[in-house]
Amino acid sequence: MCPRLLLPFLFAALSFTFTLSLATGHPYHSRLSPEFFSPLIVQKLLATSQHTPGVSTSYPQYTTRDTGAWKYFPADTWTSGFLPATFYALAERATICPPSMNGTTAAQWLEIGRSSATGEIPLELHTGVGHDVGFLSFPFVDELTINPLNDTALHAVETFADALAARFNSVVGCTRSWDTADPTDFPVIIDNMMNLEVLFVAAHLTGNDTLRQIAVSHADKTIANHVRADGSSFHVVDYNTTTGAVIAQHTVQGYSNSSTWSRGQAWGIYGFANMYRRTQLDRYLDTARRMAGYFLNNIPEDGIIPWDFNAPLVPPRPADSSAAMIAANGLLLLAQQEQTLTPANWSGAWNYINAAIKILNDTTNAFWAPTWQSLLSNATVNNPASPPNNLTGTVYGDYYFIKAGNEIAKLSVDCICTASEA
Ligand SMILES: *[C@@H]1O[C@H](CO)[C@@H](O)[C@H](O)[C@H]1NC(C)=O
Ligand SMILES: *[C@@H]1O[C@H](CO)[C@@H](O)[C@H](O)[C@H]1NC(C)=O
Ligand SMILES: *[C@@H]1O[C@H](CO)[C@@H](O)[C@H](O)[C@H]1NC(C)=O
Ligand SMILES: *[C@@H]1O[C@H](CO)[C@@H](O)[C@H](O)[C@H]1NC(C)=O
Ligand SMILES: *[C@@H]1O[C@H](CO)[C@@H](O)[C@H](O)[C@H]1NC(C)=O
Ligand SMILES: *[C@@H]1O[C@H](CO)[C@@H](O)[C@H](O)[C@H]1NC(C)=O
Ligand SMILES: *[C@@H]1O[C@H](CO)[C@@H](O)[C@H](O)[C@H]1NC(C)=O
Ligand SMILES: *[C@@H]1O[C@H](CO)[C@@H](O)[C@H](O)[C@H]1NC(C)=O
Ligand SMILES: *[C@@H]1O[C@H](CO)[C@@H](O)[C@H](O)[C@H]1NC(C)=O
Repeated sequence: MCPRLLLPFLFAALSFTFTLSLATGHPYHSRLSPEFFSPLIVQKLLATSQHTPGVSTSYPQYTTRDTGAWKYFPADTWTSGFLPATFYALAERATICPPSMNGTTAAQWLEIGRSSATGEIPLELHTGVGHDVGFLSFPFVDELTINPLNDTALHAVETFADALAARFNSVVGCTRSWDTADPTDFPVIIDNMMNLEVLFVAAHLTGNDTLRQIAVSHADKTIANHVRADGSSFHVVDYNTTTGAVIAQHTVQGYSNSSTWSRGQAWGIYGFANMYRRTQLDRYLDTARRMAGYFLNNIPEDGIIPWDFNAPLVPPRPADSSAAMIAANGLLLLAQQEQTLTPANWSGAWNYINAAIKILNDTTNAFWAPTWQSLLSNATVNNPASPPNNLTGTVYGDYYFIKAGNEIAKLSVDCICTASEA
């Protein structure tokens, strides 16, 4: 069962570079940087897995920019799901591309992932992360793809979905992002598009269609009030809880109220591509394309994704390698949607795959960090914070780096990866 898109996928011995080419009429050749399947990935993640013996009570979030060492945060933090989800992603990689795993196996990574996720289980009962339960659910959703009967994972997904649904306000039509001192202020951030997936997973498990309706309402309001006519986006929209009116469109992590924060734009591409995957409603495909178009049209000549597309060049603006990784995954998901159309939009699909590979390549060639504990450097956690937190590694940037490598490898796994390894 060869995926229709793909063709010869040639491994060069030991370096794990490969060539993709296209069978659908137009010639296409591309090559991913060898870092995507480097044995250093396995080495670093094994070392990180051994950092916290027993049940994890803290998880890495970002690396310091002087030493490249992870900084650890309590389990009840929005980023805690990414490390266990990374281990699940390596378990998947071990089945897609065993030669890149330096002798480690899928069973081994699954065990590490399960063990790492154990520290998150108490969060089902009490968490302060608010809307970010969607991110916390990642390892549990991954577990269900492997063992749909794992009760702990089922319970976690349903509890997190209910917690997000409880933040929905029908006057506003959205789930609340941050809690505020003034309860009539109702902020919604573009990042929240990523948290809607847990509602779909739980709706599928329980048959509760309310969860699905909440996701659709939230996404529709986001199209209306976060996404601008040119496909760019506001980071934050504040609604009035009582009247549902838009009070302000502004930024917290970007350069200015009218600018486009690149990581937010990337969350939007992924979130709307996923909404189309889940609903087949054309407006989500259209929005994902528009947001992708803005992102791709605003990448500077050097290929480096800036922290904010509108931040001035002087003084030099920090890059955000995590925005690059998230956008690349969003583009790959969008490319999959283009292939599901009737007839399939092959040129659209390859356009997005090509663009994703270029972003992955340019970012990795610039920011691969062999001596750091993270895989990549030069992500920007929060530049307007005081002090600014920029040019670090991030656990989410690394997670999406590995996910993107898996997606590219899967494009040809059934027919080639195992067959033509040199
Ligand atoms: C990606 O980078 C590698 C070098 O690491 C290069 O050989 C390849 O041509 C690049 N591919 C694209 C699509 O930029
Ligand atoms: C690969 O695994 C062997 C042990 O099995 C280890 O000695 C070596 O350092 C590993 N290589 C890398 C690059 O992690
Ligand atoms: C069920 O999934 C959770 C979350 O990933 C994991 O911690 C636990 O070990 C799994 N249980 C079994 C029996 O596999
Ligand atoms: C469906 O989910 C909503 C939101 O969590 C909840 O209020 C409602 O009680 C659920 N319905 C059923 C039948 O469980
Ligand atoms: C929301 O609207 C109500 C009623 O008009 C008003 O009392 C309240 O101050 C408004 N809240 C905000 C945050 O604007
Ligand atoms: C940005 O928007 C916020 C929220 O509406 C507002 O308080 C702030 O004054 C705005 N900043 C500028 C420079 O207009
Ligand atoms: C990056 O962060 C450092 C300190 O954390 C700060 O001094 C610098 O201004 C920031 N860079 C930019 C371009 O904002
Ligand atoms: C990447 O980060 C390093 C500091 O770790 C900094 O010196 C360099 O200028 C950054 N590059 C870009 C393009 O932001
Ligand atoms: C195919 O995808 C491209 C986006 O790359 C889009 O502009 C075009 O309208 C799509 N074509 C069809 C027939 O849907």
